Amino acid sequence: MTDDTDVSSPAKCRAPAATQQTGRIRAFAPGDRDTVLAVNQANLPAVGSLTGAALDALVAQARATLVAEVDGRPAGLLICLDHTARYDSPNFAWLKERLGRFTYVDRIALAPDACGLGIGQRLYETLIARLAEDPATAGLPLACEVNTRPANPGSLRFHRRLGFVEIGTLDHGDKAVVFLSRTADPASGEASL
Ligand SMILES: CC(C)(COP(=O)(O)OP(=O)(O)OC[C@H]1O[C@@H](n2cnc3c(N)ncnc32)[C@H](O)[C@@H]1OP(=O)(O)O)[C@@H](O)C(=O)NCCC(=O)NCCS
Repeated sequence: MTDDTDVSSPAKCRAPAATQQTGRIRAFAPGDRDTVLAVNQANLPAVGSLTGAALDALVAQARATLVAEVDGRPAGLLICLDHTARYDSPNFAWLKERLGRFTYVDRIALAPDACGLGIGQRLYETLIARLAEDPATAGLPLACEVNTRPANPGSLRFHRRLGFVEIGTLDHGDKAVVFLSRTADPASGEASL
């Protein structure tokens, strides 16, 4: 398959028809770096802060880095790692200890004006199809975490709708997270996808 997935007819678009946007899901390209970094930084603290160098390091070892392009501009980012990643993150370490072999959505973030259009779901659909096709990742659990302090209830609802279930929690003091997992089998989330 290719990474090109049409997002021009979102299932849950809240924008009026007259302002309907066109877009697609595609693989990250080096020219996306600055825009994607700005999208990430616009979503703190829901996602972790990144520098350009940190983004480069994640992309270099990612299983998949997907960009949601809307009207020709990158408006969303999804980075997926697997258990072989060298990632100095306590959340990643928690998952590695419990799941062993797994895939991991390190972050998903959309530009504020791209939220609520179904683009997050399209990013996940594209990722899951890609993971299922790759013998190295097919059948592995797909995990992520969502902040509970500060709370991110919208993301929690979003992930539950996609079939993710809670597998544990971790309290960092100033921050806390809930870990979520689902199979990377496209059919398993069919009802919610
Ligand atoms: C979470 C996210 C990826 C979901 O993608 P999406 O395409 O917006 O998905 P949905 O349309 O299903 O919306 C999911 C939730 O986002 C919130 N949301 C949707 N549209 C929004 C908007 N225009 N403004 C603010 N929040 C919005 C809502 O809480 C919504 O949940 P609800 O429909 O149950 O109320 C996306 O909203 C996003 O990037 N949010 C900010 C960053 C973030 O929280 N990332 C996840 C970290 S774990």
